Amino acid sequence: GPAAPAAAPVARALTVIAHRGASAAAPENTLVSDEVARRSGAEWIENDVQPSRDGVPYVVHDATVDRTTDGSGPVRSLTSARLDALDAGSWFAPSFAGARVPTLAAQLADLRTRGGRLLLEIKGPHSRAEVARIVRDVWEQRIARRVMVQSFDPASLRYVRELAPELPRALLRERLDADPVAVARELGLSAYNVSYRGLSARTGVVAELRAAGVAVDVWTVDDPERWRVLAGLGVTGVITDRPAELAGWNAAR
Ligand code: G3P
Ligand code: CA
Repeated sequence: GPAAPAAAPVARALTVIAHRGASAAAPENTLVSDEVARRSGAEWIENDVQPSRDGVPYVVHDATVDRTTDGSGPVRSLTSARLDALDAGSWFAPSFAGARVPTLAAQLADLRTRGGRLLLEIKGPHSRAEVARIVRDVWEQRIARRVMVQSFDPASLRYVRELAPELPRALLRERLDADPVAVARELGLSAYNVSYRGLSARTGVVAELRAAGVAVDVWTVDDPERWRVLAGLGVTGVITDRPAELAGWNAAR
């Protein structure tokens, strides 16, 4: 009889998650990098948060401001007045001079106005009171349905669950747990976000997690050859410094 038609490749798009905003094109974790990400077709923006000395959550990645601003010192040792005065753009390129280290509240207000979804990383260990302040900031903007919280720190995720059980949570891992599905159940995770290197050891875990209703967003991947591998494994999304390129790659498939 007639030859069977060749199986059509499964056209599964990867959710585009912009790592620290569009961090290859603009200074990371600023309102401008978030806006570039949005315009690039990112569905989610990943940002990091940690508190100032006076307990105000700020959007910044490193433990100190040295690399990404014109100031110096640990974020947790600087007052909000000091952080507000820093230039977070010039280090990247002179054209970004004047970009600020945003407060989480300012970043959320921007998201509320301009749209998009936020994958908010609680960076480093936080106390229950510090997590409560983050949750309160999210609540005050009334955009909780557009926010997912992630952390390497399970204790922070437990605080989020206690304080705001309806806020979706993701665990960040550099390596796979022995039983990721059990970990996801125990923490009530919506997503299990493992590094590209960590995942390569046991790729079958992706199907197990997805069958259990848990998303898998892999970080931080900027290479189209790796996007192809990950799409084949059935991962949900990719956290990338190059959201425009990933959106274009999705569209071309
Ligand atoms: O979202 C994953 C990734 O952001 C975790 O690593 O150091 O960039 O926060 P890092
Ligand atoms: Ca991060």
